[in-house]
Amino acid sequence: MILVIGAGGKVGTPAVQRLLDKGLVVRALTRDPAKMAGVWPGVEAVTGDLDRPETLPPAFEGVDAALVISAGNDIAGEDTNAIDAATAAGVDRLVLLSSQGVIANVASGPFHAAGEERLRASALSWTILRPAIFMANAAQWRDTIKAQGAFYEPTGTGAHAMIHPSDIGEVAAEVLASPGHVGQTYELTGPEAITSADCAAALSAALGTEVRHVDIPDEAFRQAMAGFGAPPVLIDSLSRYFAMVRVGDFAHVSPAVADILGRPGRTFRDWAVENAAVFG
Ligand SMILES: NC(=O)c1ccc[n+]([C@@H]2O[C@H](COP(=O)([O-])OP(=O)(O)OC[C@H]3O[C@@H](n4cnc5c(N)ncnc54)[C@H](OP(=O)(O)O)[C@@H]3O)[C@@H](O)[C@H]2O)c1
Repeated sequence: MILVIGAGGKVGTPAVQRLLDKGLVVRALTRDPAKMAGVWPGVEAVTGDLDRPETLPPAFEGVDAALVISAGNDIAGEDTNAIDAATAAGVDRLVLLSSQGVIANVASGPFHAAGEERLRASALSWTILRPAIFMANAAQWRDTIKAQGAFYEPTGTGAHAMIHPSDIGEVAAEVLASPGHVGQTYELTGPEAITSADCAAALSAALGTEVRHVDIPDEAFRQAMAGFGAPPVLIDSLSRYFAMVRVGDFAHVSPAVADILGRPGRTFRDWAVENAAVFG
């Protein structure tokens, strides 16, 4: 039995699908089982909330391996609760979704460091996935693309190897399905480093209308994020991430996705075509 936490999300959904395709038995944790009704016949939906550790023991009962995707407001606490519940239940293997930003302490990295540390110190057989920034974040550009045909990002001409979330989910499923990945930490990137101008070109082609990237200074980015209500710690870590992107520090491509899936990762052009309707 494999437990997937975060099963209804961008990474969890393709992970569950790939596990089912492999004929494995899957349980999906959700705060609201009604949302899972009929989505995957045969998948047992179990109610639980990573922010409420008392809800977790039934979810881990009888589980051999688990994928933990913490996507709430307290990722460090949620990772800790999941790791502790898995340990108490005698789970054999745990795959943790972390972030490429852990080492440089940028982007979502600062929120994942504690969970990584706790997992490495645990008695569980673990694998850690550190994905690059998601291509799906481009959906946040929808409103300005619809209104102005433009999106605003402080990336300059820097390239970064964004990743398609479905590739992360499929890698997670492969890692869960085989014991050969225990003790590994995989950096997961897309197949190529691309600039925001490249993203604009891909979106222009997919939408059939011109989309422009507008570079903005760090201060304007910070003000925009604050306007959306983002907490200062997140604004700071994203600001540091984009500063590194501008000078090419996230332009390398990791071989892990192609090695594990046996095919190259999906491109941003693929993502743009699949998600054109988002930009309506
Ligand atoms: N976006 C990026 O660029 C990026 C880059 C690197 C790493 N990451 C990491 O990726 C993770 C997010 O993955 P994702 O985008 O696939 O997630 P997502 O689509 O935002 O959501 C995944 C699921 O998490 C569940 N969830 C939320 N709060 C929960 C809680 N308190 N207890 C139990 N389940 C909860 C929700 O399911 P229910 O509503 O059914 O409960 C939701 O369907 C985060 O850890 C993030 O730091 C993101």
